[in-house]
Amino acid sequence: MVRTALAALAISFALSIKVDAADVAPGDTERQRGAVATVNPLATQAGLDAMQRGGNAIDAAVAAALTLGVVDGHNSGIGGGCFVLIRRSDGTLYAIDGRETAPFTAHRDMYLRDGQADPRLSKVGALASGTPGAVAALARALREHGTQKLPDLLLPAADIAERGFSIDRVYARNLRSTASDLQQFEASRKMLLKSNGEPYVEGDVLRLPDLAKTYRAIASEGVNWFYRGPFAAAVENWMQSNGGLLSRKDFAAYQAKARVPLQTQYRGYTIIGFPPPSSGGIHVGQILNILENFDLRGLAAEDPAKFHHVIVEAMKLAFADRAHWLGDADFARVPRGLIDRAYAAQLAAQIDPDRATTVASHGMPPGHDGEWFGDQHTTHVAAADAAGNWVALTATVNTSFGSKVVVPQMGVVLNNEMDDFSSQPGVPNAFGLLGAEANAIAPQKRPLSSMSPTIVLKDDRPVLTIGAAGGPTIITQVVLGIVRFIDLEQPLETAVAGPRFHHQWSPDRVLLENRFPNPLAQALEARGHALATRSTIGVTQAIASTPGGFVAVHDPRVPGMAKAQ
Ligand code: DON
Repeated sequence: MVRTALAALAISFALSIKVDAADVAPGDTERQRGAVATVNPLATQAGLDAMQRGGNAIDAAVAAALTLGVVDGHNSGIGGGCFVLIRRSDGTLYAIDGRETAPFTAHRDMYLRDGQADPRLSKVGALASGTPGAVAALARALREHGTQKLPDLLLPAADIAERGFSIDRVYARNLRSTASDLQQFEASRKMLLKSNGEPYVEGDVLRLPDLAKTYRAIASEGVNWFYRGPFAAAVENWMQSNGGLLSRKDFAAYQAKARVPLQTQYRGYTIIGFPPPSSGGIHVGQILNILENFDLRGLAAEDPAKFHHVIVEAMKLAFADRAHWLGDADFARVPRGLIDRAYAAQLAAQIDPDRATTVASHGMPPGHDGEWFGDQHTTHVAAADAAGNWVALTATVNTSFGSKVVVPQMGVVLNNEMDDFSSQPGVPNAFGLLGAEANAIAPQKRPLSSMSPTIVLKDDRPVLTIGAAGGPTIITQVVLGIVRFIDLEQPLETAVAGPRFHHQWSPDRVLLENRFPNPLAQALEARGHALATRSTIGVTQAIASTPGGFVAVHDPRVPGMAKAQ
């Protein structure tokens, strides 16, 4: 009785927030042109426009990402990085890694002062940025898989930057919370704050003429203008006078790398994920592998507290492995055994269905001294088209407005992705994540990411593209989206809207959204979990293929637009 009430409660909570799902046009996906979902209507529209002009889902995703770099610059932009996961209509899969790299002169102890990590140095200012990868990755995605030219997609975004756009509540909130840091840097102050130093508020129109010029210069001169020309020189100049490391040499050496997409199986579906330097593909796959050992559908109906407990425990075990084993696989030995199903079964067997277990340390995946990933070789955009091209693209400058540094005259916010490295064992980063040797800083290494652009196939046909923003909660958001969509057969809108929970091993507590049903929270506490709450956890975008056509969903927690056409 209590259990049924809890289940009903969980479902009603999931339904209680309004979801702006796309209107599904009549007919199946073949009769629609495609669908796009992002956190900003102008960006979604740029993607839809690209498709309207005859472009495919890759053109649409790149158009949306470039536009987000203008209208959503606190989350992502050309001063940051991205991962692009592509499933082409012929079934081939591609992972383009546009993650930032540590400068040539970076070194593992660069954030230590008197032997102690100074956490601010990797977050704000000249030492916080890696070489931006977004331009190289978006250009590569377009060149190899798109149909349109980079200027076709850069110029409409430049027009928006020049004309200005109305800032939404999330943009305004992030400006407010970062204003004192932005204040410190002249170009940032000039571009992002009013002349009296106050942050713009929701509804104000922000114009970015320098960024418009930069987009236009890349459109007319090509990506070399960015990596081997005036942009790289402007960054080097600023860095030299402000104690930073990034140089023209770093820009000239930058490459968007082709990675081998990761494939795992979950209840008859194929989960395509992003390999290192993302930890996303590995741990989404690993958590789902662990969960496959439980009848989640039955538990959700019969014993929702146990359903949530089991998922929390699986998250905790995976994040303990992440902290130890994960780093850029071009530098660190990341064991393939992490996604081994027998290893997952072994971890599943450690889960006590009735009590929170203490996970003291990482596990020992099979072949941890043998087969490595390296040998093979935050904002999320979802796009799909009628021909069967599907894209999951996650882009970021890391925390709001990255390093808070705007490159003078260029209008570009530089990332603070260096904070995703482990600056010292035991010292948490901005997201409370710990890391080990595998994620220590080294020249040209890419910091470990949680970004998890994911595409799900059934019988080789794409059924879902999903991804999120929100640091480590990206991994658990994607897991929850997939479990709700596949195991609970929830409509995609419900799967994305449902109250979220997250565990990342350290700190050892379950993070719950405020509106997480109280009785369920109490039931988790009774099993021995420490709890903490937050108003919301993360931002997910997704598109599913359904018998009625594409269903595109943007996260109702923030503004956005999802549309099929
Ligand atoms: O790559 C990562 O895991 C982080 N830099 C992502 C940052 C993020 O999602 C911030 N968004 N809320």
